Amino acid sequence: MALLPPMPPDADLLVGLDTSDDAGVYRLSDDLALVQTVDFFTPVVDDPYVFGQIAAANALSDVYAMGGRPLTVLNLVGFPVSRLDKGILVEILRGGADKVREAGATIVGGHSIDDAEPKFGMAVTGIVSPKAMWTNAGARPDDVLILTKPVGVGIVTTAIKRQKATDDMIRRVQEVMVALNKTAAEVAAGFSVHACTDVTGFGLLGHAAEIARASGVGIRILADRVPVLPGTWELAEQGVVPGGTRNNEAWLADWVDYHPSVPPVLRTILCDAVTSGGLLLCVAKDRAEELVEALRKAGVADSAAIGEIIEGPAGRIEVL
Ligand code: CO
Ligand code: CO
Ligand code: CO
Repeated sequence: MALLPPMPPDADLLVGLDTSDDAGVYRLSDDLALVQTVDFFTPVVDDPYVFGQIAAANALSDVYAMGGRPLTVLNLVGFPVSRLDKGILVEILRGGADKVREAGATIVGGHSIDDAEPKFGMAVTGIVSPKAMWTNAGARPDDVLILTKPVGVGIVTTAIKRQKATDDMIRRVQEVMVALNKTAAEVAAGFSVHACTDVTGFGLLGHAAEIARASGVGIRILADRVPVLPGTWELAEQGVVPGGTRNNEAWLADWVDYHPSVPPVLRTILCDAVTSGGLLLCVAKDRAEELVEALRKAGVADSAAIGEIIEGPAGRIEVL
């Protein structure tokens, strides 16, 4: 995004490019703002219906991560029409549509092109009250950091591509990726959320670093509290690690201080590039325990308090 030419200032642009937030937020009135985001990618699993669900859950998530409610969706499709059976595309679209319906949003259109490789995603428009939106910039010292889905998604999906994942691993990672962050966001809205993002391509530590930088705070993560998908540890030890995760590890080295007791394989897992990950919520300390309990009760079973916000240094992550 640093490659974009600067835009003229606009007083109604509440969240733009500066804070690496999940979505843009544009004020329509004192009580109403648009939340807009777009995401698409190539298949991460073999089943086209599940891929459609994942792509939708992932795109919708950026609206939830801003505290918003998704309203309308445009499908984005690339498909090799001459090489692949059209039935596959029908399944991808059906998976996406089912998730959009579950979100209570509506597909209003889309665009498809003939492409060498299948790609699917969505542009999503939602709404939020400017007073209630969750940006990356609001985290305060003493806030508790809560994560709502396990990490390790990039490692396990890479294992699927390399035919090293067991049926159980595949079932579990798919379950995690297709889950909407709707319930998590709705439950958290009743608590004192100061900042939020969702964990995706930059991994848990990468997205934590975005919050730390935007909020001008430090973050302490307790590595053994972070929920991790079963099988991830063994796979990472065998070197089943996606390129994106290795890139994250490399650039995060400048921002993260690991306690010597944190093993290298766990460092890799904490940097793992995620697709359709959970919400990373910064919540007032006195509400945190109650929120984790409420999330679990509502079915967001992997929710856990994984660390806290500290004074600084700004932008730095400490992993114990
Ligand atoms: Co996001
Ligand atoms: Co996104
Ligand atoms: Co946010």
